[in-house]
Amino acid sequence: MALAGVVAYMAPASGQADGEATPIFGIKIPPGYRDWKLISVAHEEGNLNDLRAILGNDAAITASREGTLPFPDGTIIARLAWSYAPLEESSKAFGRLQSFVAGPPRNGVQFMVKDSRKYASTGGWGFAQFDDGKPADEAVHNTCFPCHSAAKARDFVFNRYAP
Ligand code: HEC
Repeated sequence: MALAGVVAYMAPASGQADGEATPIFGIKIPPGYRDWKLISVAHEEGNLNDLRAILGNDAAITASREGTLPFPDGTIIARLAWSYAPLEESSKAFGRLQSFVAGPPRNGVQFMVKDSRKYASTGGWGFAQFDDGKPADEAVHNTCFPCHSAAKARDFVFNRYAP
């Protein structure tokens, strides 16, 4: 029984769950990511028009807090997003539309997984996007690294730890 418990505990620690893997990087949705700690929040305007939370596993949180660069292998950073939704009750409370909150999920869930050997050709990061739990296509995954290269000086990660 004790051994079974250890095995069950170890499986998620590898960072890979059941489900389909993404093209190119072969990443599956990491189990338990929704309960990870907060690195920061973001808001995208224009067509994206969303509210975001950037979460990290323990390795990501420690490195973010301490400003460690490059991030160590095993780091996983998650980017969740929801529609930027007006809160109706706020109009009543303030007499005008004042408050915006997270509506339904949109723009998928994204992950960056650090493995400096496996992903050597993309700065040590594997990139993954899931829409409704399904991996996005290869074309989508080809866009990640070129754009994140703008943050090369910060190990390809844009968001800083929000204290
Ligand atoms: C056109 C530029 C662009 C593309 C393409 C892009 N990103 Fe990003 N990404 C950003 C910017 C800017 C941020 C920071 C602002 C934010 O969080 O919205 C970000 C944030 C992130 C974060 C949170 C960590 C961080 O760097 O702050 C993750 C994880 C992420 N992106 C993954 C991906 C994945 C996976 C893909 C491809 C499927 C992708 N991104 C494609 C620009 C891009």
